[in-house]
Amino acid sequence: MENKIIVANWKMNGSNELVDRISNLINDSLDIKSKEIIICPSYIHIELLIKNNTGRNFYVGSQDCSDKSDGAFTGEISASMLKNLGCSHVIIGHSERRSKYSESNQLLKDKVSEAINNNLIPIFCCGEEALERKNGTHFDKISEQLDVLFDINDLKSTIIAYEPVWSIGTNKTPSDKEIKDMHIYIKNYLMKKTSSNNISVLYGGSVNPENASSILKIPEVDGVLVGGASLSPEKFRLICSTI
Ligand code: PGA
Repeated sequence: MENKIIVANWKMNGSNELVDRISNLINDSLDIKSKEIIICPSYIHIELLIKNNTGRNFYVGSQDCSDKSDGAFTGEISASMLKNLGCSHVIIGHSERRSKYSESNQLLKDKVSEAINNNLIPIFCCGEEALERKNGTHFDKISEQLDVLFDINDLKSTIIAYEPVWSIGTNKTPSDKEIKDMHIYIKNYLMKKTSSNNISVLYGGSVNPENASSILKIPEVDGVLVGGASLSPEKFRLICSTI
């Protein structure tokens, strides 16, 4: 993978001011040219991020989308609406959606299908709980989560984000060796199931300007998904300019 991918997941944070500060900083940063940057703000900030940055050097994504195309689904936002707004990517299956909103594998499969049918690139998250890593069942857990994808005919350029749940927002990360081993496992599994060896696999969980460099240097890591640190334009810029 030539250009490393850096995804910002703002979660339920952000403001018009943050939209301005981060886009100005990223647009002015010449040292991030070789990165593919995708900023995923809340739904209500997507339009501003796109409209204020017509010549931007980053992509804009959403943090979720509906599993339905249209109709009587109060509160939902469809993949086609996001595409029309100018989004290119959508995060699906984040562990917070899985655990706090009980999103099932079947639902996630339908969301990925909706995204692909509307030419959005899904960033599909998977990750084990602390106990599963302790028990040594973490590889099985990841396979089980990835299995929903293989019913979909053409995964196109779907991106996978490996995010151990115990690492999200905790300042704890797996060792570089553990990250490497899991990325090799995921890539082999994807290859076995889809015969494709060009699906990008990102790491997410407590990525910050201090650890980004060593994580991004792992050859099997195609990029990172950044939560908390992406809310600081300065920290996010540092991560984006990491070699
Ligand atoms: P974090 O979040 O970087 O704050 O750990 C990552 C994520 O949840 O996507």
